[in-house]
Amino acid sequence: ANIILLGPPGAGKGTQAKRLVEERGMVQLSTGDMLREAKTSGTEMGKRVAEVMARGELVTDDIVIGLIEEKITGPAGGGFIFDGFPRTLPQADALGQLLSRTGQVLDAVIEMQVDDAALVARITGRFTCGQCGEVYHDVTKPTKAAGTCDVCGSHDLKRRADDNEDALKQRLMEYYKKTSPLIGYYYAKKQLSSVDGLAEMDAVAQAIAAVLDKA
Ligand code: AP5
Ligand code: ZN
Repeated sequence: ANIILLGPPGAGKGTQAKRLVEERGMVQLSTGDMLREAKTSGTEMGKRVAEVMARGELVTDDIVIGLIEEKITGPAGGGFIFDGFPRTLPQADALGQLLSRTGQVLDAVIEMQVDDAALVARITGRFTCGQCGEVYHDVTKPTKAAGTCDVCGSHDLKRRADDNEDALKQRLMEYYKKTSPLIGYYYAKKQLSSVDGLAEMDAVAQAIAAVLDKA
């Protein structure tokens, strides 16, 4: 199945996407991860994008649409998980066109509902493994041994440049202004399902699995 995980920063999109990759062999397409990779490549585009991201603003539609276009030239085994894309109405339209042009469909859009107060705690406690990408949290998902990734054993654990309160405020504003209209857009197409993103990680995973099994 091809699905979109829709929700504000810190809703748990990346966390759940990684589980779906492991449990169902789906393919995660995170535009945030792709943009962070472009940043480490050191190109001019990468540098400009890094500045926009650090401020918590959205990158232009044509850049992210281009990134997705390169990845979905044909169907993927377990299906695609669109994580953090689309984030604007033009991106949603572009995705629809790219899928139909390549003979694919969108099976479900899963909105992860959370509230702003929880997001600050989620974002400011987050760190990730620089080697394998596993996502952790100081309180809700610490590593078993301090400073060591549970999955790959790396000591390269890092925090994102945009995971501070100022950038988060901007990211939330962008979400409500530009991304939340997608909820109505997909509802009208009868593709929207909502899950409680404030529940424990396992419960969220179960709710998503229930949507997928119906799709
Ligand atoms: P992106 O990388 O997509 O970030 P985001 O949308 O802000 O989402 P996050 O990665 O912050 O959160 P998440 O929902 O994945 O939460 P996570 O699972 O990590 O985008 C970054 C930037 O790139 C944007 O600001 C923009 O500049 C640019 N960009 C990207 N895509 C773009 C696009 N399409 N168009 C334009 N610009 C674009 O969880 C968060 C924390 O909570 C973790 O520590 C986790 O362990 C913990 N946690 C997760 N679930 C639970 C739970 N159920 N209970 C308790 N803790 C939990
Ligand atoms: Zn790791």
